[in-house]
Amino acid sequence: MLKIAISILFIPYILFSSDQIYINGEQLYFGKGCLSCHGTDATGLHNYPSLAKRSKWDLKRRLLKFRSGIESSQQSLIMIPFAKNLTDREIDELSYFLQNIKQNEDQEEYDMEYEPWGDGGS
Ligand code: HEC
Repeated sequence: MLKIAISILFIPYILFSSDQIYINGEQLYFGKGCLSCHGTDATGLHNYPSLAKRSKWDLKRRLLKFRSGIESSQQSLIMIPFAKNLTDREIDELSYFLQNIKQNEDQEEYDMEYEPWGDGGS
């Protein structure tokens, strides 16, 4: 009985601790395919904007706008379907994750090595 009471007390802590929000956001980012346009480190690809380290509130505001189907450009039409079925909580988790995203420390080194052999950026 005591065990149950203790676990119940800890559930909110586990669900709402910021680490958990980060992990949930990360899973959503990869699970919902955001990476395919915004990049594995969320710094953007081609015309797709960088999302990494941006203000959570700004990201949230933009996602809510896309979810409600408001388009501000031709580009928005690409993004809207991906925001359409996100819940408030998922938007919160994604924005938190993106604001706090941990960059891969090896990334820069890799880019420097890779670039000379790239296709010139086509
Ligand atoms: C098929 C490509 C594609 C996918 C997948 C995609 N996005 Fe986007 N996203 C875009 C484009 C294009 C824009 C720019 C839209 C505009 O300018 O109106 C954008 C814009 C955004 C913005 C606003 C950035 C800004 O500077 O205005 C956020 C936040 C965002 N996406 C989050 C996400 C999240 C979270 C996911 C996954 C659920 C996701 N995107 C999946 C293409 C994509």
